[in-house]
Amino acid sequence: MIDGTVNKSRRRFLIGSTSVVGAVGGVGAAVPFVGSWKPSAKALAAGAPITIDTSRLELGELLGPMPAWRGQPIFVMRRDEQILERLSSNIDHLADPASEKTDQQPPYAQNEFRSIRPEIMVMVGLCTHLGCSPQLFAEVEPQDFDPNWQGGFFCPCHGSMFDLAGRVFTGVPAPTNLVVPPHYYVNDEVIVIGLDAENS
Ligand code: FES
Repeated sequence: MIDGTVNKSRRRFLIGSTSVVGAVGGVGAAVPFVGSWKPSAKALAAGAPITIDTSRLELGELLGPMPAWRGQPIFVMRRDEQILERLSSNIDHLADPASEKTDQQPPYAQNEFRSIRPEIMVMVGLCTHLGCSPQLFAEVEPQDFDPNWQGGFFCPCHGSMFDLAGRVFTGVPAPTNLVVPPHYYVNDEVIVIGLDAENS
């Protein structure tokens, strides 16, 4: 019985020693790997700017297939005069209608439409609460989540709402407006996303 206990202890020690040696060996092997690591072409491409063509973008729809930049969906939408008028007049329920939280957009998008050109919306399509992708409900019509819905984005995860400029409603879990990524126009229809004009 005593022998058995000793043997068990010895076995545990041997197993522990082997594990430690294995771990040290692992670290030793990792050093030269870390020292020589360079980002792969794929990793570089994942953060690279993207170019999109908006020429076939219909009014009130999101550009599809949905572009992705840095692994994030990018919402691009063409807005008509009625939408722009509602964005100008319907602001009482918004938490940050003038985009005063400056981290959420570049300076050239700090305006009521949160865009360079009012008719084109460019937005990172991730909720600023916990990162779900909000859904577009473009029409002005009563919704279960808001009987006075004026068109916008609804995040089904926890009920956050945003207007068609990505401005967050008051009283919802999302703390800030949706993010406008850096971008600039190459011509009337082509946009580069991921760079400002001055850094292009
Ligand atoms: S992730 Fe959108 S409301 Fe929570």
